[in-house]
Amino acid sequence: MSGGISRRAFLDGAVGASAAAAIPARAASAKPGFLWGAATAGHQVEGNNVSSDIWLLEQLKPSPFKEPSGDACDSLHRWREDVAIVRSLGLNCYRFSVEWARIEPEPGQFSQAFLDHYAAMVDHCRDQGLAPVVTLSHFTAPRWFAARGGWQNPDAPALFARFADRVARRMAGGISHAVTFNEPNLQKLGEWGKTPKNGATRAMFETMLTAAARACGSDRFAVLNAGDAEAVMQPILFGHAQAKAALKAVRGNLPVGLSLALPDDQAVGRESRIEEKRRAVYGPFLDAARTDDFIGIQTYNRALVDAKGPVAAPAGAEHTQTGDEYYPQAVGNAARYAHRATGRPVLVTENGIATEDDTQRIRFIEGALASIDAAKADGVPLVGYIHWSLLDNFEWLSGYGPKFGLVAVDRTTFKRTTKPSARAYARLVAARA
Ligand code: BGC
Repeated sequence: MSGGISRRAFLDGAVGASAAAAIPARAASAKPGFLWGAATAGHQVEGNNVSSDIWLLEQLKPSPFKEPSGDACDSLHRWREDVAIVRSLGLNCYRFSVEWARIEPEPGQFSQAFLDHYAAMVDHCRDQGLAPVVTLSHFTAPRWFAARGGWQNPDAPALFARFADRVARRMAGGISHAVTFNEPNLQKLGEWGKTPKNGATRAMFETMLTAAARACGSDRFAVLNAGDAEAVMQPILFGHAQAKAALKAVRGNLPVGLSLALPDDQAVGRESRIEEKRRAVYGPFLDAARTDDFIGIQTYNRALVDAKGPVAAPAGAEHTQTGDEYYPQAVGNAARYAHRATGRPVLVTENGIATEDDTQRIRFIEGALASIDAAKADGVPLVGYIHWSLLDNFEWLSGYGPKFGLVAVDRTTFKRTTKPSARAYARLVAARA
């Protein structure tokens, strides 16, 4: 969970593989070469994700969410329009997530209709010449999963792998790259260097989770990136490994990885704690990524670290709508680090800026793509660049305030309006084709 609490404050079974026939990649329409894309995530754009854990948190009174997600961008019904926009920009990749809460709204009850729904998205992307990058866990999980203790439940990795198996059996052939977890290190990133670990935020989350447990008639309720980050790290890593195995059991050559929240960390002074930070916030995930097919990175800013810990941006620095330092070249630097630390190819699964000033977004994209060019020229094996986000969408705790989109969405009619920055991005991509 991120956003509202702003990225800096917390920003945010049995696997039935043996039963599954191994399926080949749908290669015919796969576009080779560098992936240029735009991203969304189910809960943030689909609307009415009523069986999910976060939906319940949004309904609490009081709730730390500024507003509920409601209909979001109604992409549950308008996803073809979204895909058409991606295509119209000349991109060759669309990243989206499959919502576990829709596919398995009650434990063990799988929805064929929603599996078909997401499979249709994958197929349609392929038909349109777009590589579908599919995320299995983009912060949300089914409400029942949270009410059983989320990632603190010993069954969690197997439950997640069972879900991954169902997804794989229905659509693995068409997926370009599968991302198991989106930013499983986000809370660690937000808490690092804070004393005590972000006390007020933690207390607020605890109150929220206690109220949610009560609403479910459970004694527990746990969601990603809002609980005990240390306690769930190992289970999440098991979940990643088991989900990857489930996906690979169905399609052995499906590229699988996870995506980390990864700012461009920069040392200030000689005694900087930067390496300590890297070990604590990324270390175990980078270790896991070493045996993955790629490492996904999600970069929004740089983070200065001195001998004491995090340092504020320099006086006079330009900022974004969510308070990050405006620093477009961060993404290229983060890609270099991710490759150096893992030896794996790097897929930028998110990079973007919250701003009401679209000219700032245009400058940001120009700077970000220049830093990607430079990293590539230095030999960093980059797989692709996926901009966050395609649409102005539900930014978690901040609701519909921050504007990350290349495309504006009318909150009442859901009409999509392509911004000048989308066209600028399209031109910059075309120039590199
Ligand atoms: C998340 C997105 C979020 C974005 C901007 C990332 O933390 O993956 O869901 O909207 O950053 O805050």
